[in-house]
Amino acid sequence: MSDPGPPAALDRTLTPDDLDAYLRLRETTFGYPGRTDEVVAAFTARLPRTHGAFVAGELASAVTRHDYRVHVAGSIVAANGFGAISTAPEHRRSGHVARLMRAALTAGRDAGQGWNLLYPFDAAFYARYGWVSVPTGVLLELPPERLPAGTPRRLRRVDGPAAAGLAAPYARAAATRTFADTRIGGPWDAWENLDGAPGEGLLRYASDDAFVALRLRYVDGEPHMEVLDLGWSDAAGRDAVWGALAAFRGHVARVRIHVPWDDPVALDRVRGHAGTGHPGLMARVADVPLALAPLRAVADDDAPLDLPPLHLRVVDPYAAWNDGVWRLEPGPTGTTVTPSRSAPDATLDVRGLALLVSGAGAPLDARRAGWADGGGRALATVAALSGGRRPYRSLIDAF
Ligand SMILES: CC(C)(COP(=O)(O)OP(=O)(O)OC[C@H]1O[C@@H](n2cnc3c(N)ncnc32)[C@H](O)[C@@H]1OP(=O)(O)O)[C@@H](O)C(=O)NCCC(=O)NCCS
Repeated sequence: MSDPGPPAALDRTLTPDDLDAYLRLRETTFGYPGRTDEVVAAFTARLPRTHGAFVAGELASAVTRHDYRVHVAGSIVAANGFGAISTAPEHRRSGHVARLMRAALTAGRDAGQGWNLLYPFDAAFYARYGWVSVPTGVLLELPPERLPAGTPRRLRRVDGPAAAGLAAPYARAAATRTFADTRIGGPWDAWENLDGAPGEGLLRYASDDAFVALRLRYVDGEPHMEVLDLGWSDAAGRDAVWGALAAFRGHVARVRIHVPWDDPVALDRVRGHAGTGHPGLMARVADVPLALAPLRAVADDDAPLDLPPLHLRVVDPYAAWNDGVWRLEPGPTGTTVTPSRSAPDATLDVRGLALLVSGAGAPLDARRAGWADGGGRALATVAALSGGRRPYRSLIDAF
């Protein structure tokens, strides 16, 4: 007898009646114990944004959509991220997650979200559906003496709520990066993690153009430092952060620090001091018009650029609404994006498109990966929409 295949599934968003099944799925998939009031409240709030697949009335699989706003190319845009992606072991490999992610992307588009970001358990799993790994930070573990001396005593100590002391320099730093969270109105309050509990040894320093938050802890009887968050919006701010950390020379044995991947310190130190085990970041263009419309024809200092209109073919079989030829007309306040029947000037796989407009890669990188074809002028124009920014997202904003 032939295999009848998996039984048909009913897909829908979860309701309060599904809370117990959702928590059970989470516990059995990820092994997270406990149903504290905090966990139950958080998961109750997520129900309307969680897509579930039901097989014979049982919750077999779930994908939760988190809504937030991120910086992309100097603009603030609506985005979402997927979390708690899980299928009960007995229902795996039946295509549930592949279906639910598409439904969640569609719901995100209806909410005006042009991008999806996620932290993969295995990048290869999501790559086949159009997500691309983008570099973010490099985790270094090194003696503080191996960091630059910087400019001492320029950052001032800020006590009180972390948001009050750090939000302004954070916003300036985040605006220079693509995919940095706005930390406004998301499902979590990242600042709470930087407040810390009394006695936790959290220290925060800031100036107008830079900030750093760190925690001291003892490892094998030696003081170690963990930098929880850091950022700067100019060269003086960057030197000020190194200067604040240099005060710990001779005090702490080692510093654990997540440095933007393209910073000279990361490049200088990666061979000898790179740590592993931190989550990578993947990005996906969830909706071509929503993702590209906010992108402006400007340089990193907002000086206008003269970028010609073009016809771009996007290849995206998983999210078929993106698949096709689009006319892009970049302007100083945004890009007009319309579907077109014209012959394309260039073709980009949706992963290549994310690579170029996020500043994670250049046209030749996309060509080499097999994700770009056609005219270099058109590809250079698409890449210029990155606004002179490259990706970075603080580990404190991982979900
Ligand atoms: C990863 C997981 C969510 C996949 O769920 P699923 O419902 O089995 O996924 P699908 O059936 O939609 O799989 C889609 C494709 O990926 C393949 N696939 C499934 N699990 C995979 C894995 N662990 N590694 C690589 N490929 C996998 C499937 O074979 C299928 O390929 P096909 O379309 O060519 O047949 C599920 O295995 C799980 O819950 N794992 C534990 C929790 C976890 O790691 N979650 C991810 C957090 S980021």
